[in-house]
Amino acid sequence: MLGPKETGNFMAANGKTDIDHERLKKVVEGIAVEIRKATEWGKAADYIPELAKIDTKQFGIAVLTRDGQTIAGGDADTQFSIQSISKVFALAIALKAKGEKVWKRVGKEPSGDPYNSIIDLERHKGFPRNPFINPGALVVVDMLLEDRERDDLPDTVRDFIGDMIGDHAIGIDEDVVKSEHISGFTNKALANLAKSFGNLNHEVDDVMHVYVRQCAVALSCRQLAAAGRFLMLDREDIDDKVSKADAERARRINAVMLTCGQYDGSGDFAYRVGLPAKSGVGGGILAVVPNTATVAVWSPGLDDNGNSLLGTLALERLSQRMDWSIFGAVRRV
Ligand code: DON
Repeated sequence: MLGPKETGNFMAANGKTDIDHERLKKVVEGIAVEIRKATEWGKAADYIPELAKIDTKQFGIAVLTRDGQTIAGGDADTQFSIQSISKVFALAIALKAKGEKVWKRVGKEPSGDPYNSIIDLERHKGFPRNPFINPGALVVVDMLLEDRERDDLPDTVRDFIGDMIGDHAIGIDEDVVKSEHISGFTNKALANLAKSFGNLNHEVDDVMHVYVRQCAVALSCRQLAAAGRFLMLDREDIDDKVSKADAERARRINAVMLTCGQYDGSGDFAYRVGLPAKSGVGGGILAVVPNTATVAVWSPGLDDNGNSLLGTLALERLSQRMDWSIFGAVRRV
């Protein structure tokens, strides 16, 4: 069996996973330097014109460890729109409010189709395969709007993130909002299709309004890692005031992130990185090392599945070097 120091992580007497911070710092800084030398940066999302303007040659990384330290590298303080990563927060809010009833309107299966596939929604009669593909996220927004009036449409996800990071001065990129309203034909089609199957209770425009704003929440890697902290707390813990219900919810959200978080690329991501994670077309990825850390990476160039090309590579190297795959530690250092 590997000893604690041999993997860079070890279980302390209090049952928490402690980390070799010195080693983590070296690893994170090393990755930031390596990624900057990349020759292939991927392509920014261009179906949202505002995102197409972003310089792809940027990379940031921030790791928040369970004991509250942040280790960062590259452009870790540059803000970007979180896009589909917002769907994780929306799901967390819905699950807390409605519990298992959420799954009556949206599934928890990988879709095997692109995140904005119309045929996939039609095939499943308006029941989205999971909450991370666009129709699934639209249905979750519809749930969050229950009991709301038209002139009282909330920025629920932004407020939740504000609570998580203890700072409510969180911006929404209004240019991205406008851009996505103008270009969001496919999402409007998906919302209409869900409505035609009886799986959307509010007006399509209202659901779109809230959805587009949650996608345009602007965070840095440092902020995103902090916002996702609740996902690493997958054990009841008196010190952190994590309840059994919170821990159980985190574990379940992590399961959906692992199987569905990178869409069609989820299998490859699990193989290479081995961590629950959620990507966004803004180039961000939030990954979770259960009970240990949250990691946010950002690089706006995407691969063919709409996931950050270099963000994924960075996570692969981090997970490998820290031996953080949830599928087990393998390396003797
Ligand atoms: O609805 C859209 O198409 C975007 N606002 C979000 C899609 C997204 O981030 C997919 N993630 N990789």
